[in-house]
Amino acid sequence: MLPRAALPAVQARNSSHSPLGVPSANQRKKVTINTLQSLYRKSEPIAMITAHDFPSAHVADQAGIDMVLVGDSLAMVALGMEDTSEITLEDMLLHCRSVARATKAAFTVGDLPMGSYEISPEQALETAIRFVKEGRMQGVKLEGGIEFAPTIAKLTRAGIPVVAHIGLTPQRQNALGGFRVQGKSTASALRLLQDAIAVQEAGAFAVVIEAAPAEIASLVTKKLRIPTIGIGAGNGCSGQVLVQVDMLGNFPPGRFLPKFVKQYGNVWAEASRAITEYRNDVKSRAYPALEHTYPIPKDELSEFEKIIAEKEAEAKVT
Ligand code: KIV
Repeated sequence: MLPRAALPAVQARNSSHSPLGVPSANQRKKVTINTLQSLYRKSEPIAMITAHDFPSAHVADQAGIDMVLVGDSLAMVALGMEDTSEITLEDMLLHCRSVARATKAAFTVGDLPMGSYEISPEQALETAIRFVKEGRMQGVKLEGGIEFAPTIAKLTRAGIPVVAHIGLTPQRQNALGGFRVQGKSTASALRLLQDAIAVQEAGAFAVVIEAAPAEIASLVTKKLRIPTIGIGAGNGCSGQVLVQVDMLGNFPPGRFLPKFVKQYGNVWAEASRAITEYRNDVKSRAYPALEHTYPIPKDELSEFEKIIAEKEAEAKVT
């Protein structure tokens, strides 16, 4: 069990529903699109991670992450859906809002879900505006390359920063024949480069490259004037992104993990240990202990006991 002193002093409320966030005293400077461009110019890698709710965004922001992505991986790793095609725009906006409330410094990007942007650039703009106004995101991400150049141009002209996503695009897993590595043949690598250049020319300020050979992603990175953010694309990208749930190890043993994920923690094991201990403490009445209860003055208690006893005695007489 954690010692009481490890808990923050701000816990003043007698409720289990205390606010989770406390503004940090030494908050770092807000990361803007200019900050990201400056990191890129200095060849300093950009650290991006997903967050799907308030606590995961809070910890990412406090850990110094540059960009927080409300990825539609939310569908699978937080909402238990089969794939990302099931998640709705409303689902995404709800989670974006919770992430935005916790993210004080990092640049926030929301993922446009399947069906919310493909029909026309106008549809995409309407959706992207909702991400900014209702989801409180600073930028949006969309899956697709050259075919979405007009859409990216429309969004950036409207002042909405766009991150493109090329290579393995999970929303199109059915068309790709599953979650397959892209850019493994000359033709496929050329398509990746063509996509990267097209989204750059359309105005994307960064491009995620997912599941591509490291050499190809590195060559593509060298050909661009915007940062590449790799996920399963090797170390030659301008930055990296991982799904937080994956890298924290917040899943049961035996779950499939893509080759590119480095597991930095074992949150599942720690949560499981703590919940088992709690369960056992409840069963054995070791919890709650005296220190977890509210005191009452002795005289008030005696008076209460006396009244109860009197009432019981009266009831017996009648
Ligand atoms: O949805 C997501 O989390 C993503 C990342 C994997 C880049 O798109």
